[in-house]
Amino acid sequence: MSGRAGTAAGSRRALLRFLLQSPLLLAAGGLREALARPELAIPASAAEALDVFQIERVARQKLDPATIHFIVNGADDGATVLANREAYGDWAIRVRRLVDVSRVDLSTEVLGLRLEVPLLLAPVGNQQSIHPAGELATARAAKRTGHAMIASTVTNAAVGEIAKEAGQLWFQLYASPDRPLMDKLIGDAEQAGCPVVALTVDSNTRGNREGERWWGRLPEARPREELRLGNFKDYSGPPRIGDISLDWKKLEWIRARTRVKLVLKGIVTREDARLARESGVDGLIVSNHGGRQEESLRSTLASLPEVVEAVGSALPVLMDGGIRRGTDVFKALALGARAVCIGRPYLWGLGAFGEEGVERVLVILREELKRIMQFAGTTSVGAIGPGHLERRR
Ligand SMILES: Cc1cc2nc3c(=O)[nH]c(=O)nc-3n(C[C@H](O)[C@H](O)[C@H](O)COP(=O)(O)O)c2cc1C
Repeated sequence: MSGRAGTAAGSRRALLRFLLQSPLLLAAGGLREALARPELAIPASAAEALDVFQIERVARQKLDPATIHFIVNGADDGATVLANREAYGDWAIRVRRLVDVSRVDLSTEVLGLRLEVPLLLAPVGNQQSIHPAGELATARAAKRTGHAMIASTVTNAAVGEIAKEAGQLWFQLYASPDRPLMDKLIGDAEQAGCPVVALTVDSNTRGNREGERWWGRLPEARPREELRLGNFKDYSGPPRIGDISLDWKKLEWIRARTRVKLVLKGIVTREDARLARESGVDGLIVSNHGGRQEESLRSTLASLPEVVEAVGSALPVLMDGGIRRGTDVFKALALGARAVCIGRPYLWGLGAFGEEGVERVLVILREELKRIMQFAGTTSVGAIGPGHLERRR
């Protein structure tokens, strides 16, 4: 796949070079100007890419519409997806001068675990629909760059297979009405060495992702291959995922079953944050599933401060949603997140350039975070605080 893609990119570049040398176009100047604009650029290799958006453009060119819908779709009209992204624009960064930033430490500690960078790969299922190497490629790229990864319940590879390729690996658990199935999933994750289970609590029912649903009906849609769900292959029952009756009582049952740390993924209000603290879980991830489940929610960045305030120092709070730049990570940390997670950016990397693309996305975000930390005069993650932000509006 990458060989073919490489050849295609090579001939595209040759054509562009030829066109650029054409006197007619040179006279017009338009194409040359367009090619000089990073916000329009489509890099030919992962190494060439300067930012996450360039990699997204490559993936959009390469992937088929069903896969693009799978990655981008939000619920209904996509207002939650948009809110997540736009929220970072609500804040300006206050930088401090005359600080020696020759050494910047990006590492942090969450749940007693050391993270080299305060950025994890959020759980995403069915990554083989984006690239044949799927989650295994993602895991290898995350390990090489020192990032922890959260493996989804609905991956194509089993959690044990992913763990062999990954560095630090957490497991994301979907609730199921089938208790033996939950026991099996938790047991597999523990056996694979995952130190944390993240129970997703925003998925008791399925979001209305119309792009995905509509495309699936069109005659052009290729017949969907049967999904290979690695974590279910030895299970005799049907893969029943999502539990409409999941409540705080049932959480007690899950908590009692889990010997490793348990965090809740999907808390977005102070009320639930308080209940979570009382429930004895170990941490929270402020998340709205990247806007894929519910329409018309607040952004996760707007939800973060009240959750952080409600749990105080009792629980670490992570967050995800809309992070595309190092400055976005910086803002989330300043508002109290101990670390952040990304979803779509690394999926674009996987779709654009496979394992190398995932790695490039992680390197870009790390470099961007380090740069803004240096400009802001912050030499460690712990030094980033609310004093580094001011609301624009
Ligand atoms: C294609 C796709 C599949 C996802 N699958 C899962 C999943 O299996 N389990 C889960 O808890 N979250 C899932 N998520 C949500 C992500 O874990 C994460 O919350 C979200 O992508 C963060 O927002 P971002 O994409 O803007 O970075 C998925 C997200 C996407 C885009």
